[in-house]
Amino acid sequence: MKFHEPKNLALLNAAIIAGAYAVLFLLSVGIIFTNAYSHFYTFVALFLTSALIFLIAYGIFLYTLDKFIYSKIRLIYKSIHSVKMGKKEQTTMQSSTNLIGNVQAEVENWEWEKQREIEQLRRLEQYRRDFIGNVSHELKTPLFNIQGYVSTLLDGGLEDHTINREYLKRTEKSIERLVKILEDLDEISQLESGQMKLKITRFDIVSLTREIAELLEMKAHKHEIQITILDPGRPVMVEGDKDKIRQVLTNIIDNSIRYGNRENGKTKISFFDMDENILTEVTDNGLGIDTQDLTRVFERFYRTERGRAATKKGKGLGLSIVKHILEAHQQTINVRSTIGVGTTFGFTLKKT
Ligand SMILES: Nc1ncnc2c1ncn2[C@@H]1O[C@H](COP(=O)(O)OP(=O)(O)OP(=O)(O)O)[C@@H](O)[C@H]1O
Ligand SMILES: [Mg+2]
Repeated sequence: MKFHEPKNLALLNAAIIAGAYAVLFLLSVGIIFTNAYSHFYTFVALFLTSALIFLIAYGIFLYTLDKFIYSKIRLIYKSIHSVKMGKKEQTTMQSSTNLIGNVQAEVENWEWEKQREIEQLRRLEQYRRDFIGNVSHELKTPLFNIQGYVSTLLDGGLEDHTINREYLKRTEKSIERLVKILEDLDEISQLESGQMKLKITRFDIVSLTREIAELLEMKAHKHEIQITILDPGRPVMVEGDKDKIRQVLTNIIDNSIRYGNRENGKTKISFFDMDENILTEVTDNGLGIDTQDLTRVFERFYRTERGRAATKKGKGLGLSIVKHILEAHQQTINVRSTIGVGTTFGFTLKKT
């Protein structure tokens, strides 16, 4: 029996009052202490008056509880419910007899939802703080470099022919890095806000890969990396924004060179027919990525310890852009890697 229901509460109270009346009645007529149990009419009268008192008390209690207490709770319940559901759904709310139970369930539910919202806001706040921290950290290095070179030049370095051109060149490099970071951030924010419109066309992914490999040939040569395209010997037509996919391939191949093997470095690019999609894979025999870093490399500004040790050049933004571009195409990117053996990045595009 649930005592928080008005009906049951009224029943209990009415039973107590009727019981108390019966005991008092019996005491007052002395029936308990004399042995007058045969007073049939007295018992009938007692039964009838107790029943009457029970009914009246039950009615009064139920009315009072409902009128003065539950009507107020009903109001609170209604307002909680309408806040939660929004005004539109308010009219569809069913009136229920188990109001207290409902209020409790609603409040618990509400509390749980609020807790979740707070958690999410906290996560977003943390994300925002990390992001600002990362941006300022990334901007600081080139800015401090520029400041250092300019100060040295102003303090007499400008007249020193052994350093003046060199310091100006380094200043230019730092400015280029600043501009690139800002361009990348701008691109990420456009991709995240869905502002970037894709120009979807049909193109041959193999010839696009060849084009990019040729452009990166010099850099690969400098790092002693050999790029091999496992050419299927025929065009492999896919659907997508060609310029954006160019960016995807450029960053992944560039990474395979940047974090590739310093001695016998090899980058292999292959294409697989997956019925509806074409899977393009870029495999290197470089540094490799630790298991705990595998999903994190797609986060903006994330660089692995090994990556940082290998080169200062990375900004940790390339793969974040790559992931966003592929998500905008409703396609996926995956990575598998073994430390000291190498890494494979694979992404899909719709086959046409
Ligand atoms: N092929 C790879 N082998 C080993 N580590 C890799 C490879 N590709 C990426 N990484 C790791 O993932 C990190 C993130 O890569 P990402 O391309 O996002 O940034 P980046 O190359 O450092 O800088 P950029 O923004 O200029 O591309 C790298 O810093 C590196 O630590
Ligand atoms: Mg990169």
